[in-house]
Amino acid sequence: MKVTSTLYSLEKIETDIIAIPLFEDEDFPDYVIELSKKISGALVAAKTIGEFKGKLYETTSVFTHGKIPSPRVLLVGAGKKVDFDRRLAVNVAGAAGRKLIKLEAKRAAFDATKYSDPSLIVEGVGLGELDFGLYKKEKAKRIDELVIVGKISPAEQKEASLVVETANWVRETVFQPANRLTPTHLVTEARKIAREGRLEIEVYDEKAAVKKGMGAFAGIAQGSNEPSFIAALKYTYNKTASTLGIVGKGITFDSGGISIKPSDKMHEMKMDMAGAATALGFMKLVSVLKPKLNVVVTVALTENLPGGRALKPGDVVKSLSGKTIEVLNTDAEGRVVLSDALTLAQKLGATKIVDLATLTGAVVVALGSEATAVLGNKQGFTDQVIKAGESVGERIWQLPIYPEHKELLRSEIADLANIPPMRGAGVIAGGVFLQEFIDPKNSWAHLDIAGTAWLDSEKPFLAKGPTAVGLRTLLALAKELEKAKE
Ligand code: BES
Ligand code: ZN
Ligand code: ZN
Repeated sequence: MKVTSTLYSLEKIETDIIAIPLFEDEDFPDYVIELSKKISGALVAAKTIGEFKGKLYETTSVFTHGKIPSPRVLLVGAGKKVDFDRRLAVNVAGAAGRKLIKLEAKRAAFDATKYSDPSLIVEGVGLGELDFGLYKKEKAKRIDELVIVGKISPAEQKEASLVVETANWVRETVFQPANRLTPTHLVTEARKIAREGRLEIEVYDEKAAVKKGMGAFAGIAQGSNEPSFIAALKYTYNKTASTLGIVGKGITFDSGGISIKPSDKMHEMKMDMAGAATALGFMKLVSVLKPKLNVVVTVALTENLPGGRALKPGDVVKSLSGKTIEVLNTDAEGRVVLSDALTLAQKLGATKIVDLATLTGAVVVALGSEATAVLGNKQGFTDQVIKAGESVGERIWQLPIYPEHKELLRSEIADLANIPPMRGAGVIAGGVFLQEFIDPKNSWAHLDIAGTAWLDSEKPFLAKGPTAVGLRTLLALAKELEKAKE
């Protein structure tokens, strides 16, 4: 999707369709009434008749019968004015984007009058227009050109395009089936990102991981015949800046291992690498946008399968941190591989760490698909992550880690167990486990994206499937941290 901008008035623009967002509780502004007059009152009629009420995500398309250069106008409901925050601003643009695809528009203009930050239009339309028919003969339709009608600087335009392109790369990567998107494939992508972005990269295959002491990662990896990798990418701004570490869970397929999952919906576990894809997408952004801080990304890439050498419930592995883990349930594999990826990120200098992981089914029970859960060890940093999410329209809800929760993971044989003895507090147990691998001097936030990385059903503004949740939050966080440094 090519993005351009213009300050021409709507009736002068020549494109396939002009999208105009309008509030439910506000009269049509003068320029819309003027435009309506030019096309025989068609827009005002749509409102008077009640065909278009302005309700959130409602869309009505109107023909212009050759009276202005563009053949159609799309009225887009923006809901109530007071509710129109950055999240809804993205989603309203997304609803327009999805409708434009359904109308098979190739070129579209979008009236930016209601947007104080027109980047949100680019992001919303760009996310909304993506459909996933990756391996169908008939490819999904896309918009070729989006014209923002309003003020947006070339730099803003370029950045918003880059962000949305990268988010859609993440989404398509997550959607790939596990036979195509193996750990080998994903590590090749990581190498490509490093090469193109001139970043340092270290890759450990299973043998190298064992040699380095990453026995937790290697333990999960040994259940699968596909080669597995832990990769670390490094962007250096300068030697004195602090280092942000992003750690991603990259299970390209989670069968549960010997603690095998029920077959119902097991196919969805191809998405268990969403954290790693998002972390790699973030590094793509970093390599182009070059923020004034250092960034390390570590991703643990493996399948979780019940092969002949797979870990068995009760097996004990030793992590890079030196702590031993009793793997009571091989389906709680994410935390086990992340333990080594977290330690590695800190060994490479990360002092502020965010991990992204589709870690628990429990978070789906707690928050559904409306919010990502965050747990952290320093309230200030957790707040920064939540705020970063808010600024891009991604909801993040905190759950606590109380001292008593630490009892959850006691093991009789090792330093800690990977699951609690009883049900309950499943999301927190995941966080408590990961915190064991964080140096208390460092700041850390864990994002459990199991409920938000994948939409179970289509929304008016987004296709069913991967969402790339977290990507735009990480970028906003990096910008905030770089500001704090100045
Ligand atoms: N990958 C799953 C979590 C998941 C569930 C992701 C639903 C996306 C959607 C994770 O590895 C897992 O299986 N977790 C277990 C942990 C349990 C054994 C403590 C779970 O949630 O059941
Ligand atoms: Zn699992
Ligand atoms: Zn998993």
